[in-house]
Order: sequence, then C-alpha cells, then structure tokens
Amino acid sequence: MALCKRYDNVSILLRFSQRFSFCLFCVPNNKAILLTRNLIESTNMIEIRLMTIDDLQLGMRLTQQAGWNQTESDWLRFMKLEPQGCFVAELDGYPVGTTTTCIFSQVAWIAMVLVGINARGKGVGTTLLKHAIEFLQRREVVKTIRLDATPAGRRVYEKLGFVPEYELARFEGIAPQVRTRLGVTKAIREIFASMIEFDRRMTGTYRAKMLSRLFEEFPENFRVHSSGGKIESFITMRPGANAIQIGPCIATTNAGTLLLRDALNRAAPKPVFIDIPTDNIEAVKIAESSGLKIQRYFTRMYLGDPIKEHINEIWASSGPEKG
Ligand SMILES: CC(C)(COP(=O)(O)OP(=O)(O)OC[C@H]1O[C@@H](n2cnc3c(N)ncnc32)[C@H](O)[C@@H]1OP(=O)(O)O)[C@@H](O)C(=O)NCCC(=O)NCCS
Repeated sequence: MALCKRYDNVSILLRFSQRFSFCLFCVPNNKAILLTRNLIESTNMIEIRLMTIDDLQLGMRLTQQAGWNQTESDWLRFMKLEPQGCFVAELDGYPVGTTTTCIFSQVAWIAMVLVGINARGKGVGTTLLKHAIEFLQRREVVKTIRLDATPAGRRVYEKLGFVPEYELARFEGIAPQVRTRLGVTKAIREIFASMIEFDRRMTGTYRAKMLSRLFEEFPENFRVHSSGGKIESFITMRPGANAIQIGPCIATTNAGTLLLRDALNRAAPKPVFIDIPTDNIEAVKIAESSGLKIQRYFTRMYLGDPIKEHINEIWASSGPEKG
C-alpha cells in the first residue's frame, strides 16, 4: 500500500501489476486503482532491440498466431541473412513484435512485421517499421525499400510513405499430379551464376545471397529449364508450417509453364501455397487449372526509387519475405 504514495513507486507497482496482475487488487483505494489503470494504459513504452536466436519461440508464436507459413528454419534464415537487421519490439518490457530486413545491395526488403494480438493498435508496428527504415537508410547503398503488405499492414506502411506497386494472389490447395514434359532438370552449382544473373535482370535485384542460401538448404528442390543449351529459368520450393511454399519461379514464357507444372507434380499430393503477381495471366491460369484457389492478396509496395521488374517473368514470388 505504501508503494502508492510516490509516483516512482507507482511505476514499480505498474511493472508488478503487468507481470503478475495481482497488485491492482492490493490497493484498497478506488482512486489509486484508477490512477494505476490510467498509467498502465498510457505507459506503453516501446523499445526496439536486436532479434537473436533466443527469440525463435517468440517468432514462432507470432507467426502461428497470425496463421502464417514460416518455420523455425525460415526465422533462422532471416537472422543469418541480416544478423544486424532483425528486430524485436518490447512493450513495457515484454517482447510483442518482430520485423526483419534483408539488404540486396541497392534494394532492401522488410518482412515479418508481426505484432501480438493483445499489443496491436498501440504503435508497435509503426515503431518497428520506422526502426527498420532508419536501419536501412543508414546504409547509403540502399536506394529502394520493398515489402509485400497484408491489408492490415498496408495502412501502416502507406502512412510511412510506401507506395503500392502491384498485387500478388496467394493460391492454395492440394498439389495435383499433372502432365509434365521434358526439359526440366535438377539445378547444379555450375549453372548458378547464370541463374542469378537472369534473376537480377528480371527482378531488378541482385538476390544472390538469398538464392544461394535456399540452394544450400534445399539443393534437390531447385529445378531449371534449358533451351538451346541455355539454362536460366528456375523454380524452387521449401517446406512451410501449413503448406509447401512454391517459389521463387523466374522464367521465360515457355519455361514458366513447365517449371510450375513440374513443381506441382513434385509436391503432389501435399498442400501448397504459390504467390503469383495477378498480372502474370499465364501463371494465374496454371494455378487455376490445377484446382488452386485464392486465399488472400498481398500488395507489393516500395519506398524510394521504383524498381523495374518483368512481371511476366515472375511466375511465383519467393513468399512475402523477399519478393
Ligand atoms: C499489421 C500490424 C503489424 C500492425 O501492428 P500495430 O502494432 O497494431 O500497428 P500500429 O499500432 O502501429 O498501427 C495500427 C493502427 O493503430 C494506430 N495507432 C498507432 N499508435 C497508436 C496508439 N498509441 N494507440 C492507439 N492506436 C494507435 C495507428 O494509427 C493505426 O491506425 P489505423 O487503424 O487507423 O491504421 C499488426 O496488426 C499485425 O501483426 N497483424 C497481423 C500480421 C500482419 O498482417 N502483418 C503485416 C505484414 S505486411
């Protein structure tokens, strides 16, 4: 009771009340209870710190809460790709939110913006975003920041100056056995450099570090299409918490159809997700004719210099993480 007599002691009481939620009931005076409640509501101290491997459980809890598809391996990959660029938000001392960044030279991505349900609407998402933007803008090389926004995220990002580029549809369903044709083979290390160069031309981004990492983790999942002795078009997939994520698939018009069908065949009869730019009509047709349905949409957004991408060559994005 004596604790309530001085403000600095009230703040200690607040910490206790938030941690153990019993101190509120120890205060017999209604005014003190009211004061304490008001202070709790207005405290909302948001602090951002580096995300480490010890935060894996937090990451998984938040992805599961949001119904997202990422696994522990995905979180570890984020931290490996940008060890100084993955962050946790603490609200009044409790970890409640995350975001990750990935710098591909001039283009950087922000992903995994997640805030626990009970901590939403208190500015945590906005603070995380501002921190990530500041982190990226301190690197002079970064000219463009991109992300794939959910409808909830889009409102937050627009307020921070992000501009919508185009829509992606997430298709989901059970991968069917489909007819495949010759021409698709397993990727080998020797052709990796030309594949990455093709990816750079089509996406406007040098994504070598992400693609190499995926290749190291899932070498058997990388498939390529060759035509006239030239191997460029490729597809990969990786396991997810709810479904196999097919993508990225960067391919010419002929190769895209073959690669997507090959991936579906290899994934059959398991659940799959494929994120496809809605303007890539041919890719959308394959998803639809394979019985997949649209689960939700993402909006690709950017801040800074616009990027020139070849949407017709993007048959599947890599998921909402890195385009
Ligand atoms: C999207 C998401 C990250 C937003 O996080 P958040 O912490 O709720 O975001 P903020 O609190 O910063 O902003 C959300 C809203 O609260 C408002 N707000 C900001 N500070 C506030 C405060 N102190 N008190 C009350 N509201 C506040 C914002 O203005 C915004 O208002 P709006 O509804 O008019 O847009 C969160 O809803 C979430 O995790 N959703 C599920 C996963 C997801 O979709 N992530 C986005 C991936 S792209």
